[in-house]
Amino acid sequence: AKITYITKAGEEIQLEASTGSLMELAVKHKVAGIDGDCGGVCSCATCHVHVAPAFYQKLETPTEIESDMLEYDDNVTEYSRLCCQIPISEAIDGITVNVAN
Ligand code: FES
Repeated sequence: AKITYITKAGEEIQLEASTGSLMELAVKHKVAGIDGDCGGVCSCATCHVHVAPAFYQKLETPTEIESDMLEYDDNVTEYSRLCCQIPISEAIDGITVNVAN
């Protein structure tokens, strides 16, 4: 799947992968603002992104743990997700996410 990350600085980074999570892919390619400090277990929120609205609906509903984590983040919007909780698959091909950190 093709994935586009837009950093806070406005840089557009296009990557491609078929496995792992959006956080893992971003960390591997050093996308600014996605640190993945907790390693993907939903406890750091350093992988916070805003998902493009058209794609938000296609994703699995966030778990309660994820929603709770996001609640404490300053920059939360209705399209907020922790991208360690978004698995990469063809179903999300073409997705764009804005880095929230
Ligand atoms: Fe820590 Fe996603 S990597 S919450």
